[in-house]
Amino acid sequence: MTIKEDENNDASEVEETAVTDHDEADDQVLKREKKKNSKKKKSKKNVEDDGAAKPKKKKSKKKHDDVDDDEDSDEDEHPKEKSVKKKKSKKESAFMDIEAQVTASEETGTGKDSTLTIPPAISTTGQIRRSEFDSRQSSMLATSDDPFAIREGKTLLWRNVNMTLKTKDGADRKLLDDVWGEVPEKQTTAIMGPSGAGKTSLLNILAGRAKTRGKVTISSDVRLNNFSVNPTDISVRKHIAFVAQDDSLQVTSTPREAIYFSAKLRLPRNTPEKNLQKLVRRMLTELGLDSCADTYVGGALLKGISGGERKRCSVGVELVVRPAMVFLDEPTSGLDSFSAIQLCQVLKKVANAGSSVLFTIHQPASEIFNAFDRLILMNKGRVMYQGLVEDVPSYFRKRNHPLPKNYNPADWIMNVAQANTMQQLDEDGFFPKDTRNLPEPFAETMEGKDELGITLTEHHLEKDFDARPPGVFMQVRMLFTREIKNITRDTAAVGARFGLTIFLGILIGLIFRNVGKADPSQPQNLNSIFGALLMVLLMSMFGTAQPALLAFPEERPVFLREYSTNHYSVVSYFVARFSMEAVVTGLQILVQLLITFWFIGFQSSFGMLWTTVYALAMSSTALSVLLGCAVEDPKLGQEMLPLLFVPQMLFAGFFVAPDLIPSWLRWARYLCTLTYAIRIALVEEFGDGCPSDDGSDPCLNLLNSIGAEPDDTWWNWLVLVALFATFRLFALVVLQQKATKFF
Ligand SMILES: Nc1ncnc2c1ncn2[C@@H]1O[C@H](COP(=O)(O)OP(=O)(O)OP(=O)(O)O)[C@@H](O)[C@H]1O
Ligand SMILES: [Mg+2]
Repeated sequence: MTIKEDENNDASEVEETAVTDHDEADDQVLKREKKKNSKKKKSKKNVEDDGAAKPKKKKSKKKHDDVDDDEDSDEDEHPKEKSVKKKKSKKESAFMDIEAQVTASEETGTGKDSTLTIPPAISTTGQIRRSEFDSRQSSMLATSDDPFAIREGKTLLWRNVNMTLKTKDGADRKLLDDVWGEVPEKQTTAIMGPSGAGKTSLLNILAGRAKTRGKVTISSDVRLNNFSVNPTDISVRKHIAFVAQDDSLQVTSTPREAIYFSAKLRLPRNTPEKNLQKLVRRMLTELGLDSCADTYVGGALLKGISGGERKRCSVGVELVVRPAMVFLDEPTSGLDSFSAIQLCQVLKKVANAGSSVLFTIHQPASEIFNAFDRLILMNKGRVMYQGLVEDVPSYFRKRNHPLPKNYNPADWIMNVAQANTMQQLDEDGFFPKDTRNLPEPFAETMEGKDELGITLTEHHLEKDFDARPPGVFMQVRMLFTREIKNITRDTAAVGARFGLTIFLGILIGLIFRNVGKADPSQPQNLNSIFGALLMVLLMSMFGTAQPALLAFPEERPVFLREYSTNHYSVVSYFVARFSMEAVVTGLQILVQLLITFWFIGFQSSFGMLWTTVYALAMSSTALSVLLGCAVEDPKLGQEMLPLLFVPQMLFAGFFVAPDLIPSWLRWARYLCTLTYAIRIALVEEFGDGCPSDDGSDPCLNLLNSIGAEPDDTWWNWLVLVALFATFRLFALVVLQQKATKFF
């Protein structure tokens, strides 16, 4: 008789003598546990004698066969991992014993989870078993080219998770009601339930991505390896690989590049290039993306890979870094059944490598359903079932909803959840209460930052320079290279930007043709030259600030996803974007001036005019980047454009003399970059004066009227540069805030 069969018999005995009286039930459970403890000793002896523990059920053995095969081949490759895996299988059998202990307690209404699954990386006394993951293994993982290499797992537990919505009539609506559960390491846990049951809400709360602003309040007790954590904390979020329902990938990257980008920036810096390439190739093959590996991801305006391929690519981007925890929101939605099975197999392999995998799923095929380890069934914000998938049929049968023959269990449980009222289900005994006996969470101050569950891996990585992910320089380099690819591949956007510049340059050039060569002492000519100069400056402002304003809101989802999953720092992103903008803006101004300067025939030097126009463009761009970082929606950004330009023109002093502006508003012109740029350009053009026949000097009069003093040119330069720096700095602060708050 196998250990499990023995225990199953115990469980069925309990079934027969099911009692409603809790005290009686508890007594029975205690007796069983005592009995089992003595049996466990015997069984352990058997296990040692036999050399291997027999699996709980034949079905579950079959389920793991694929994985075992896979691991066998891995062991051939990495002898060092062999010992780790042996440890792992020991842990697994221990895990099974813990599960066996609680089998009998189901009838008490507590379900299998009434006993806490103790995270294996932590002992019950709260001491971290440091031998569990030594530095040798950490460096082995760093240099491994296997996406399914063994990694240190983490166990996430939660209870009392509540999400309440204040409705219009002031009442509270519970979106999540005392939700509890756990995601043990090395297991796949699926969250299922009817639409609106709260699956995404729960997943978002656990991943620290729930929107709390507005009328929604959230409270939760979440523990990572039994350290209390606040999932909204960016440092916690960074440890969770999260695949959202909406894909946010760089439109102009290919799946190969997207996965490589993630691997390069998130894996240790000492990972050899050929290993990175091999990791990426393996990930692409595992996810069935080989045929589209070099096609653009695409988006609304650029045709690229299919929706299902995009989804798998998003999954690959997260899995390639061998995360300890992986959360996915509906990873199989939009996939055909073959791809869905393929994806689930990949998730299974990830779990077998040590990760805890949690995902929401709609209507899985029975093949997929039976491949999960655990299930959390949600219904109207409450936990209808929480436990092992293989226990689902008996759980439903005991509650008078037996699974009909030849019926997909996933469809059946959804049917039960939807066809019955909550009251009916309550009466039938669904919605188990959380009776797990959780130990007190570990103190936050234990070993510095250990409350995050960042135990050994991070400590080692922090000490070992080579095992850390690449630094700022590599981050900027990768981002910059991606930006260049983005610009050169998105030819429509670049074509429109430069095409428009050329067209407007020619138009202005034709209209003001040779105006610069006319005698400025004639008022009419002076006005025309001033108009030409103003047009050139305004054109540069509009032409460069507009794309910069829209760039961030458009790229925001990608930036937030990448930042929150630890691809790069805000500063790296900012520097890379700024460098790219500086280059593109410089080129754009050059093209514009090459056309207009020679057409119009300005008297100032080309170099000087280019520098002035470039400085204006860069400082206006800085202001628009600040606005762009502050708004979340590209449409809102577009609507804010007038806010950027109208005040500039009003306060620059050429439509209305500065003295006529109400004194309480006059200060605003000091913030307008155009004010300073036009002064510098005018001094360059008319600084030498242009005496007329009547003895007056219209050029100097013009300079005086808008406050452009030749002696103050250096001051104007200084302010222009200072404004540029200030706007940029503010933009960086706003971006940093937005990034850490996430929403
Ligand atoms: N921020 C919010 N403000 C108002 N209502 C919310 C908010 N977030 C979630 N809800 C509500 O909570 C309920 C659960 O939403 P959730 O998105 O978690 O459902 P779901 O189970 O993921 O559904 P689906 O299967 O359709 O994706 C829904 O009724 C939804 O309208
Ligand atoms: Mg959802």
